[in-house]
Amino acid sequence: MQIFLDTANLQEIKEAVALGLIDGVTTNPSLIAREGRRFLEVLAEICALVDGPISAEVVATTAVGMLEESKPLTAVSPNVVIKVPMTAEGLKAVRLFSEQGVKTNVTLIFSALQAMLAAKAGAAYVSPFIGRLDDISQVGMELVEDILDIWDHYDFSTEVLVASVRNPVHVLDAARLGAHVVTLPHAVLLQLLKHPLTELGIEKFLKDWNRVPV
Ligand code: E4P
Repeated sequence: MQIFLDTANLQEIKEAVALGLIDGVTTNPSLIAREGRRFLEVLAEICALVDGPISAEVVATTAVGMLEESKPLTAVSPNVVIKVPMTAEGLKAVRLFSEQGVKTNVTLIFSALQAMLAAKAGAAYVSPFIGRLDDISQVGMELVEDILDIWDHYDFSTEVLVASVRNPVHVLDAARLGAHVVTLPHAVLLQLLKHPLTELGIEKFLKDWNRVPV
């Protein structure tokens, strides 16, 4: 399973890259706004740090507007993937982008049928938002399961990118289901590394090692 980092924060990206675990980055307008910096500058810096797909979201509401808005974004790096909202205009744009060889990530997916339509339109990625479904008492991971069930029957090249991840259990479930990609907040990535028994084990080994005669 590929691991993307869901952030626009350069320090978090640097730390994750140093771990050698990051295959790509996803951003969204809220994450970019949190940084308080110009979008294109942040995007260029992310692309310089990570050699993998970097999702940059458009905010236009028409297909034509999305295509126009994407131009300076794709000019930053060939690794930029245009993140498009799951709307009728978004799907029109996805088709046009795919004809131009531009990769897209269809975002804000909350049903398996939305994912199927995005795949048919030619999306490179579909992003089911798991945490936001959990937030409204719907089991988000069931959506990933439904999408992957559909994928089993057809020859979609679209990758299922599990998004809106809130905790390590989401990551475990996504991996057990065979999702292609998971995008993680930095804090969740760090949680994955840790186990209290690992820490206790290291502490005990170090204590015992100090008793070994030199
Ligand atoms: C994914 O691409 C989105 O940026 C992200 O996962 C949304 O997560 P949230 O629901 O925690 O805002």
